[in-house]
Amino acid sequence: MSLSTILGIESSCDDTAAAVLCNGKILANITATQTVHAQYGGVVPELASRAHQSNIIPVIVMALEKAHITMDELSAIAVTQGPGLMGSLLVGLNVAKGLCIAKDLPLIGVNHLQAHIAALFIDRDIALPMLCLLVSGGHTQIVFVSTPLNTEIVGSTQDDAAGEAFDKAAKLMGLPYPGGPFIDNYAKNGNPLAFGFPDSQTKEFDFSFSGIKTSLLYFLHKRIAIDPLFLEAHLADVCASYQRQIIVSLMKRFEKAIQHFKPASIGLTGGVSANSELRQTFLTLGKKYAIPALIPEFEFCTDNAAMVAMAGYHQYLNGDYTSLSALPYSRVKQP
Ligand SMILES: Nc1ncnc2c1ncn2[C@@H]1O[C@H](COP(=O)(O)OP(=O)(O)OP(=O)(O)O)[C@@H](O)[C@H]1O
Ligand SMILES: [Mg+2]
Repeated sequence: MSLSTILGIESSCDDTAAAVLCNGKILANITATQTVHAQYGGVVPELASRAHQSNIIPVIVMALEKAHITMDELSAIAVTQGPGLMGSLLVGLNVAKGLCIAKDLPLIGVNHLQAHIAALFIDRDIALPMLCLLVSGGHTQIVFVSTPLNTEIVGSTQDDAAGEAFDKAAKLMGLPYPGGPFIDNYAKNGNPLAFGFPDSQTKEFDFSFSGIKTSLLYFLHKRIAIDPLFLEAHLADVCASYQRQIIVSLMKRFEKAIQHFKPASIGLTGGVSANSELRQTFLTLGKKYAIPALIPEFEFCTDNAAMVAMAGYHQYLNGDYTSLSALPYSRVKQP
């Protein structure tokens, strides 16, 4: 059998990453996370592009070295083409194009959201169709996955993403960016039923998270006006209660979708799938419906290049190559 060796490159937001995949197996997965944004409480696009520019070649070299692969052994280069920050995408895409021209390799442009779904296919077989809950920093979707290349978005957020709901709440509480992991950690010592936060009205399988963030803002104003030390004294309970409501909102719609689409398996992916309580709840849901519930390994949850290489591998097997004149796209495009 001939080897299909894919170099994957990811630079859509604030992680510069490269991975090597050989016949569907990950040989190396390197991520350089940009720390420069923490002091600003969010990603600064211009700084992200500059950091990608400095990091991208060393990260690619490290991935190839770790995989014991030379550029001459590659079959194709897969790179995130969108959605994401334009300046960040341009760095990865142009480096990939340059390497493809130099080594006469096919270029494979990958949709970043499709890549988050492909993370579920790393190192395992999946019963299809799968219903996937994609929860990341910029997106919240329910996706019906007939095959890795044939997917349909059946629900999405009308405003903020679940990751944004975590990050914006963390900012309100003075926690560092990105806030999701901090809320997750504080919540472990809190009572999830201590305080109540509302769910939004949405149609069918859609989500809305801007309301819960605003309700947290008013809640904190009110409580802190009465007791200036309220947050210090109750941080764990606030985090646990807020996190619980996000999970309840996600699970309510996703369970409705399971009943409607009757999938053979369910998958949880995107950065928020690193959340410990959400992972537990999701596994319990799989047991309830007696279907496999799949979650990627931690390193494949937040942005990484292994998932880009995996999505690229599926496209490569399908002969789905991208023109060297292709441009990045910043907004969601149906894969
Ligand atoms: N343990 C956790 N609990 C909750 N949220 C988490 C956890 N770990 C990471 N996150 C959240 O995941 C998000 C980052 O995920 P990811 O890297 O997939 O997003 P992104 O690439 O910025 O957005 P997108 O994929 O939509 O373009 C952040 O909002 C972060 O707070
Ligand atoms: Mg992402």
